[in-house]
Amino acid sequence: MPAALFSPLTIGPYRLEHRVVMAPLTRMRADKATLAPRPLNVDYYAQRATPGGLIIAEATPVLPTGTGSPNVPGIYSEAQIAGWKHVVDAVHAKGGVIFLQLWHVGRVSHSSFQPGGALPVAPSAIAISDDLKAMTADGKVAAYETPRALETDEIPGIVAAYGQAARNAIAAGFDGVEVHGANGYLIEQFLQTRSNQRTDRYGGSIENRCRFLLEVTQAVIDACGAAKVGVRLSPYGIANGSGEAEPMPLYTYAIEALNRLGIAYLHLIEPRSSGAGRADVNWQNVPSALALFRPVWKGVLIGAGGFTGEPAEAAIKGGHADAIAFGRYFISNPDLPQRLAHGWPLTPYHRPTFYGGEDKGYTDYPAYDEMAPA
Ligand SMILES: Cc1cc2nc3c(=O)[nH]c(=O)nc-3n(C[C@H](O)[C@H](O)[C@H](O)COP(=O)(O)O)c2cc1C
Repeated sequence: MPAALFSPLTIGPYRLEHRVVMAPLTRMRADKATLAPRPLNVDYYAQRATPGGLIIAEATPVLPTGTGSPNVPGIYSEAQIAGWKHVVDAVHAKGGVIFLQLWHVGRVSHSSFQPGGALPVAPSAIAISDDLKAMTADGKVAAYETPRALETDEIPGIVAAYGQAARNAIAAGFDGVEVHGANGYLIEQFLQTRSNQRTDRYGGSIENRCRFLLEVTQAVIDACGAAKVGVRLSPYGIANGSGEAEPMPLYTYAIEALNRLGIAYLHLIEPRSSGAGRADVNWQNVPSALALFRPVWKGVLIGAGGFTGEPAEAAIKGGHADAIAFGRYFISNPDLPQRLAHGWPLTPYHRPTFYGGEDKGYTDYPAYDEMAPA
């Protein structure tokens, strides 16, 4: 058994029994009419729950305008809170701990998702480049539109929506929330110059570009307490048209500011996997976010991106991270912690069933001890 990966860890008020975390994974299988989790989603999360194991539930829009893919569950309506409650109860029944990732996609959207067919909103009116395509509400692809730049006085409303979403998550029974500050979505659009050309207090200097992240994090802390809040960042990532020319000063400032907020954990995505759905793109010769920012971050650090059991054990043993989040292998191995504990082989994942659909590629991956001998 990999001893470091299977040693206990305290995160906020919770004692984890092991350090194999389920990464947030968009699967686009919520109820189509209400965008609430449904029984299929309950089964999926329950299959992946373990005693003292942390699940970070999929990115979940805090507002309808924060949506950029079909059939992702929200956390802004009563039906959605009720749907999530069933998920949380099932995970708790197995002794698991579950956080909800709070999401606003900003410009990674399309007018077909927006109330009244309006343009998506973003820090600045800068479209994602043509080589990437937007998803539309009917599941087709389209060119990204030029988003509408948010007015300064609209921003507090979005910050407040994150706070309300955190309250809704707690009402659904979640143990905490993770602020999605990664992978090219709204918070990262504010952080990075290529998507933020604002001249007000949310743009320009590093301090100004970090303001939205820090205001959102504070609003979420005000809603549920710092010990129940995590933040996910992807320095050096290039998902969804993101990418900062000089990540070190920007992310050092952001992480130092987060240190002062006393949150439960920081979650960093290694740039060797770009994050989001194109996570199988692996770059060599890119820096390790864990190695660069471990000295900056003073709290619990979760690492993610391209890990299997041995590198995860080595990362924890070497002090580079306190826990490792697994994405794609948690999709295809509902019993991933047990497999890593015993050194059992991993079932490969099936990419075409990542996004959308029903049980195929979702709840039909068997646990190792249910598999027929080869
Ligand atoms: C199907 C799929 C959906 C994803 N959805 C999210 C998401 O909702 N939020 C997020 O922060 N990252 C998301 N990611 C990125 C993963 O959380 C993770 O960082 C990435 O897959 C790299 O880890 P891995 O190599 O263990 O898969 C997604 C990745 C995949 C493959």
